[in-house]
Amino acid sequence: MNSYERLLLENKAWAKEKLSDDPNYFNRLVDVQSPDFLWIGCSDSRVPANEITGTQPGEIFVHRNIANMVVHTDLNLLSVLQYAVEVLKVKHIIVCGHYGCGGVKAAMTNHNFGIINKWIRNIKDVHRFHREEVDIIPNEEAQLNRMIELNVQEQVLNLAKTSIIQKAWKERQVPDLHGWVYDLHDGLVKPIYEMPAGTHIDEIYEFDDL
Ligand code: CO
Repeated sequence: MNSYERLLLENKAWAKEKLSDDPNYFNRLVDVQSPDFLWIGCSDSRVPANEITGTQPGEIFVHRNIANMVVHTDLNLLSVLQYAVEVLKVKHIIVCGHYGCGGVKAAMTNHNFGIINKWIRNIKDVHRFHREEVDIIPNEEAQLNRMIELNVQEQVLNLAKTSIIQKAWKERQVPDLHGWVYDLHDGLVKPIYEMPAGTHIDEIYEFDDL
């Protein structure tokens, strides 16, 4: 059996199990999704949003990319964000990074990774903003861990800089923004940065006409 065929077999078993637990399981989900959460996470296969939060299909709207970035020219992210905020009306947005993130690790080197350079260039900027704090940490692993936390913090700030979030804050006082880091060693999430709806940011980023 090819490895991918195992996925199809597992899918059949999963669907059967769900139906045996609750014959209406799929019927309930088919017509409507009303998740309270948007998850912006790393593509890393070890950090699956639903599993680590114990949530079911229908509960979290998910966007994942390398190193859980919020990049203002990324139409994919912006489309997900607009849909989540304006149509699904999520109450919370979670940016979840993880210790040991290869994307952040790569950004901290001088290696040329080809097209990925353009993506992780944004993480190099995070290092530049926080160089004074990060560069004095004596241990390389601790430096990387702190960069992973600071990257999450900067991506939460990037969300707050968008007109989509500012408009929602002004009109409806939602959503709250949360920055979390997942630890691969013990499976636990550490909250590291919070921006409740309506938080003021550096005024240069605040739009006056929303
Ligand atoms: Co990662």
